[in-house]
Amino acid sequence: MDIIKTLSDYHKQYEVSTSKPDEFWAEVASEFVWRKKWDKVLQWDFHKPEVKWFQGGKLNITENALDRHLPHRANQTAILWEPNDPSEAPRKISYQELHREVCKVGNMLRSHHVKKGDRVCIYMPMVPELIYAVLGCARIGAVHSVVFAGFSAGSLVDRINDCGCSVVLTADGSFRGDKKLDLKAIVDEALLQCPTVRETIVLKRTGSNSPMKSGRDFWWHEEVMSQSADCVPEMMDAEDLLFILYTSGSTGKPKGMVHTCGGYMVFIGYTFRTVFQYQDKELFWCTADIGWVTGHSYIIYGPLLAGATTLLFEGIPSWPDPGRFWQTIERHKVNIFYTAPTAIRSLEQAPISYVNKYDLSSIRILGTVGEPINEEAWHWYNKNIGKGRCPIVDTWWQTETGGIMISPIAGVTPLKPTYATLPLPGIQPTLMDEQGKEITGTGEGRLAMKFPWPSMARTIYGNHQRFRETYFSTFPGMYFTGDGCRRDAEGFYRITGRVDDIIIVSGHNMGTAEIESAVDEHPAVCESAVVGYPHDIKGQGVYTFVICYEKPSDEDKLRSEIREVVAKIIGPIAKPDKIQFVSGLPKTRSGKIMRRILRKVAEGDTSNLGDITTLLDPSVVDEIKRGALS
Ligand code: WT7
Repeated sequence: MDIIKTLSDYHKQYEVSTSKPDEFWAEVASEFVWRKKWDKVLQWDFHKPEVKWFQGGKLNITENALDRHLPHRANQTAILWEPNDPSEAPRKISYQELHREVCKVGNMLRSHHVKKGDRVCIYMPMVPELIYAVLGCARIGAVHSVVFAGFSAGSLVDRINDCGCSVVLTADGSFRGDKKLDLKAIVDEALLQCPTVRETIVLKRTGSNSPMKSGRDFWWHEEVMSQSADCVPEMMDAEDLLFILYTSGSTGKPKGMVHTCGGYMVFIGYTFRTVFQYQDKELFWCTADIGWVTGHSYIIYGPLLAGATTLLFEGIPSWPDPGRFWQTIERHKVNIFYTAPTAIRSLEQAPISYVNKYDLSSIRILGTVGEPINEEAWHWYNKNIGKGRCPIVDTWWQTETGGIMISPIAGVTPLKPTYATLPLPGIQPTLMDEQGKEITGTGEGRLAMKFPWPSMARTIYGNHQRFRETYFSTFPGMYFTGDGCRRDAEGFYRITGRVDDIIIVSGHNMGTAEIESAVDEHPAVCESAVVGYPHDIKGQGVYTFVICYEKPSDEDKLRSEIREVVAKIIGPIAKPDKIQFVSGLPKTRSGKIMRRILRKVAEGDTSNLGDITTLLDPSVVDEIKRGALS
């Protein structure tokens, strides 16, 4: 499939992708190496739900990400690793070396009796061996389940037990800024409650003296040393499992989203090249953690399927100082930079000299992902990082979708701040109203998908019933995203936030993200979070938590100014009823605000805030409780 270069290419490809989806995706798929061609491109029924892509096809994704590139890219850097400590030397791993290391890990797993279909838990820091581990599993057909190495022992237990992992790949510890985390101790604690785990293989990273349990724990370097660099790839059916990745539901236990080999490969390869317009020899940097789907798809699989060079960053944005991202861009001459709005907003708080002392001229394209980006942060990113000359792709997608769904194509799609703009070819979004009727033209509603795409999750591991109920029952015959969305007259989409975050004030539907974006327009405001609370007259009132750049000298004056800004941008109806100034927000380690906690505070019920152990900094909760407005 030719890469889209103009808006008219986009419209043409989009048209073919919807009128002849089988032909369209067959053409995209034929760029990859298949050991056996598929019999049928697509079989689907959203009522069951059942989705199968490229049935009968046989492949191994690592052959496509590695072996396929060896004839012409053996010496090209595949992974450029920037360690936590900027004074430690970066590492460059060529495609040849990566191939060798992945094969060794594959053989190591086989020597530990891991077979096709077995689940392997990976709980590791952001080091190259984490990528070897992921691809080593894929090489031999084991199902990887990466658990973010910031999760607690309890969260690890739930994820290991839910899918019955037999082996855990981990490390003695990890570095995060000036802190060290003893990962092995967390694994040891978890394994007291994980009967299916037979063995662990432990990478040395921090040199912490974790005790090794004889017969159960093995050192990575000892196990991998003697392995051959030849590892025959397991031939996988297109619909065999590639990985499981857990995502939190709005309630209850995490959902193990199941992704399969063929469709995932085709869609991630296609979206990476299309959205970011990757050019040969460029350096691509996605700052996500591999513990999230963004890291799976756009640190590992997307770039490697495209024969790209991917930057893997072990550190954090704020250490040793808030210039770390920009320093790293200068140091390695990053061309494409993909990060989260929450990171942008937090780095915005530092003096601009932290940005301006670095040469960012290598950057060609910027991206964001994970949450709606507010207008003010978009402009800051555009002006200070892109210097007004780099397209920003605001990519909307989900753990469940596997890859990017709605996004500008860099340099092709006209940009509109806060809009994810247009669906990629093959993606058929629709907006639904409260009564379950489709909205046509301009409007606002709930975002659903009318047609399958190759990388969609096939089920929730071990719970197809929950998969059906969560995603396919709200609007029968459609996939429901859980997001609210607006479509403008040009057909551009703007994600307004989770619909569980929608508040209804005096009968008006308002996205909390939309109000936040308006509040953030006040120059004193750094970040905000809006939740609803019960209001006698309006039904729900607007409660706003606000972080300022500097402690306000006159809180009441600032409150009324913020209200006026909101009234001006959205309308008087959206004016916050209550504004509480805080120094931090309760965020999960992936940067999402835990609104459940804020809602409780806003409701005046702080007796039971539920589980706050997954928060990045649980101490902010006390401050917020103390300052709650009645
Ligand atoms: C939810 C999915 C996408 C991978 C990382 C997050 C929100 C994601 C955007 C965006 C507005 C966005 C949605 C979505 N979201 N990207 N560009 N604009 N909202 O994956 O943890 O599964 O979260 O993140 O609400 O449903 P996730």
